[in-house]
Amino acid sequence: MNLKSKNDSIILALETSCDETSAAVILAGGDKIKILSNVIASQINIHRQYGGVVPEIAAREHLKNILPVVDESLAAAKIKPAELDLLAVVAGPGLITSLLVGVEAAKALSWAWQKPLIGINHLSAHIAANFYQNQVEFPTICLVVSGGHTELIYLKDYWQYQKIGQTVDDAAGEAFDKVAKLLGLGYPGGPAISACAEELRIKNYELRIKLPRPMIKSNDFNFSFSGLKTAVLYATKKMTAAEVKKRTPEICYEFQEAVVEVLTAKTIKAGKKFGVRTVMLAGGVAANKRLRGSLEAAAKKSGFKFLVPEFKLCTDNAAMAGVAAYYLSLKSKPRLDGWKKIKADPNWELK
Ligand code: KG4
Ligand code: ZN
Repeated sequence: MNLKSKNDSIILALETSCDETSAAVILAGGDKIKILSNVIASQINIHRQYGGVVPEIAAREHLKNILPVVDESLAAAKIKPAELDLLAVVAGPGLITSLLVGVEAAKALSWAWQKPLIGINHLSAHIAANFYQNQVEFPTICLVVSGGHTELIYLKDYWQYQKIGQTVDDAAGEAFDKVAKLLGLGYPGGPAISACAEELRIKNYELRIKLPRPMIKSNDFNFSFSGLKTAVLYATKKMTAAEVKKRTPEICYEFQEAVVEVLTAKTIKAGKKFGVRTVMLAGGVAANKRLRGSLEAAAKKSGFKFLVPEFKLCTDNAAMAGVAAYYLSLKSKPRLDGWKKIKADPNWELK
């Protein structure tokens, strides 16, 4: 049954910025948003054997998956193309070969179905996952932590962004992935490290290793994670292979603590400096339970409201782009010929 009323919009969103081919259908009107479908064709099992995402393979898989995923998301939402009001596509940042598949498919569908299309920034989509079923009190600060980005974004309103800090080298997710690779834990590293760290807590191992908390006391809002990864490398070089294996839970635990402490401290410091009402967390690393718990506790202690998307909306998916598209469409009316101006931009920055 279609629950659409007169002022509601039905949006089909596509996301192909990295290694997930995703399409989602959103029903939105006023403050009410409903995700009708959110289909994700994950390529993790294909890239796992290479220890990370191989761009050429990712693009080929997107090509194979994009139209079936669109069909499946429409069917799951029980929506026909003619019922759509708007199309949206993540146009950057990301891998150019991956972005191109989603962007060109969306442009073709916009033209063929005669529906307006808007381009969505991938990081703004991660942030918008927090707008779903939540009342945001602005101003807010959002910590966006993913495989490619670690940024602190100040928002005065849904679409008024100011980047106030970022990583000067590796992203937090990238550090999780690289440390996991170094310890032989496979790809993606975040969930593997976090599960292994949990073992330390359960089995009550002794914690002897101490890693640095990079830039925790610096006066800016920037981050650095590549030194932390090198510190793990040096620590393991001092051990025998058997010792590394035995102490892997201890290394994972201390590494996760170091990342979480730095991210929490800098975000709260930014929240205080900018006088925000809400602290938000977004991006793939926001699926990390330790980080969610730590930031929530620190935010509440400092009197901020805390928001984080439900787990399945943290890692890459198209529903978050659909939510972002809805708020963007309220700001400026999408045009039927909008597709002509949309280009995949691997370096699209949120400013
Ligand atoms: O946002 P995302 O799905 O893709 C990018 O935009 O990069 O984020 C993927 C990143 C990967 O680096 C992955 O290891 C990390 O998010 N990640 C996690 C967890 N789940 C995913 N990191 C830490 N803990 C997790 N539970
Ligand atoms: Zn992402």
